[in-house]
Amino acid sequence: MTGSASERRRMAAALANKGVLTLPWLRGAVESVPRERFLHPGVFLDEGRTWRPLTALGSDPDEWLKIAYSVDTLATQLDGHLAADQVSEAVAGVPTSSSTDPTTVVGMIEALDLKAEHRVLEIGTGTGYSTALMCHYLGEDNVTTIEVDPQVAARADATLETVGYSTWTVTGDGLLGHPRRAPYHRVIATCAVRRIPYTWVRQTRPGGIILSTVGSWPWGTGLAKVTVKENGTAEGSIIKRSSFMQARAQAVTPVAGDLSARTAYADSEREARVSPLRLEEWVPAFLAQLSVPGAHFVRAATSEGARLLYLFDPERADGGGWVVRQGGPVALWDKVERTLIAWQAAGNPDITAVQLRVTDRSHAYWVDGQPALRWEHRVDGGY
Ligand SMILES: C[S@@+](CC[C@H](N)C(=O)[O-])C[C@H]1O[C@@H](n2cnc3c(N)ncnc32)[C@H](O)[C@@H]1O
Repeated sequence: MTGSASERRRMAAALANKGVLTLPWLRGAVESVPRERFLHPGVFLDEGRTWRPLTALGSDPDEWLKIAYSVDTLATQLDGHLAADQVSEAVAGVPTSSSTDPTTVVGMIEALDLKAEHRVLEIGTGTGYSTALMCHYLGEDNVTTIEVDPQVAARADATLETVGYSTWTVTGDGLLGHPRRAPYHRVIATCAVRRIPYTWVRQTRPGGIILSTVGSWPWGTGLAKVTVKENGTAEGSIIKRSSFMQARAQAVTPVAGDLSARTAYADSEREARVSPLRLEEWVPAFLAQLSVPGAHFVRAATSEGARLLYLFDPERADGGGWVVRQGGPVALWDKVERTLIAWQAAGNPDITAVQLRVTDRSHAYWVDGQPALRWEHRVDGGY
C-alpha cells in the first residue's frame, strides 16, 4: 500500500472500533481503496449557508488526505451541474452528488450479507467509492452500478478504471434498474426513494435482498431491507434510521411563494389532538409519510416568530399548527393525527418495528399487532 495507506488503515480501525466494520473482507477493501482518488476534481465543504470548494490540485496534500479520510459525507456536485473546480469562492447550492460518509456506506454493505459469488446492482454510483469497495470482493464483473447524472457517471467510471475496476457503470435512471444484467442477488440504493420500485424486485433473484432508504422528507426516512420471494413479492422491515439525497426524478421541489395565502381558504379549523411538533421527530415523521405519501412538510414562522407547520400535497394545500386549519379534498392532518395517536397508544415503537411487503400492485407497511398502524399504497394510486 502506498500514498494514503496509513490513512486508510486508520479509517478502517476507527470504523472497526465503532463496531460498524466487522467483516474481514470489507476491512481489506477499506484498507485498499483510496477514497481520495474518488473525490476528484474536488469537494464542497459545508460552511452553513454556503459551500467552499476544495480541489485536490489546489490544496495541500496533507489537508486533502485529512479531508478525504474524515468520516464525513463530502459533497462533490451542487445543483446538478457544479463541480468544485468550476468555482473559486464559496457558493450557495444544494448537493446533488456526494461521497457518502464511510460509516453509512460500510454499514450498508455489511447489511447486504454479501457472498463472493453474488451479482450486485447499485443505484447511485456517485463518486464510485462504494462501488469500488464491493468490486474489491466480488470482482468487477459482478457489480453493475447506475448513475443518473452523465457527468458524475463519467467521472466515476474513469476513476474506477484508474484504480483497477472496469466495472459496469451505466448512465441512466436507476429507478428502472438494469434488466440487461439481471437477475441480481443484491440491490443496494445509495439515494433515497419514495418507495421501492417493483422493477428492482423483478430484477432480483428469489432469496435476494434489496436495501434502500425509503421516504422523501429530509428526515424521518428509514433503511428498508426486503427479501425477494419465489412468488415475486418482497418482504422485510425497516432496519434503522437512514438519510440519503433523494433519487433525482423524485426530488421534492421546495414549496415556494406566500404560504399563508395558499392556506387562507381553510374548510375547517380545530384544536390539534396531538402536537404537530411530533412531526419533527424521526419515527413519527416516518409514519406520517406512510399516512400521507407524497405530502411535503414545510416549517415556517409568522412575522411575530410563532411557529407554523404546513403539510402540502402536490395539488392541495393544508395547514397545521396547534390549531389545525385544513383545506382541500383530502384532510391530510386528520390522517397524520390518527397515525400519531395510534403510535403513541402502541407505546411509541421504534422505526425497526415497521415491516413492509412490496408486490407489483401495492406497497404494504405495518406494525405487528397494531391494526391502526397499517398502510397499503396501491401502485396505480400514484403519488
Ligand atoms: C449520495 S450519492 C451516492 C454515494 C456513492 N454511492 C458514494 O458513496 O460514492 C447519490 C447519487 O445518486 C445519484 N442518483 C440520484 N437519483 C438517481 C437515479 N434515479 N438513478 C441513479 N442514480 C441516481 C445522484 O446523482 C448521486 O450521484
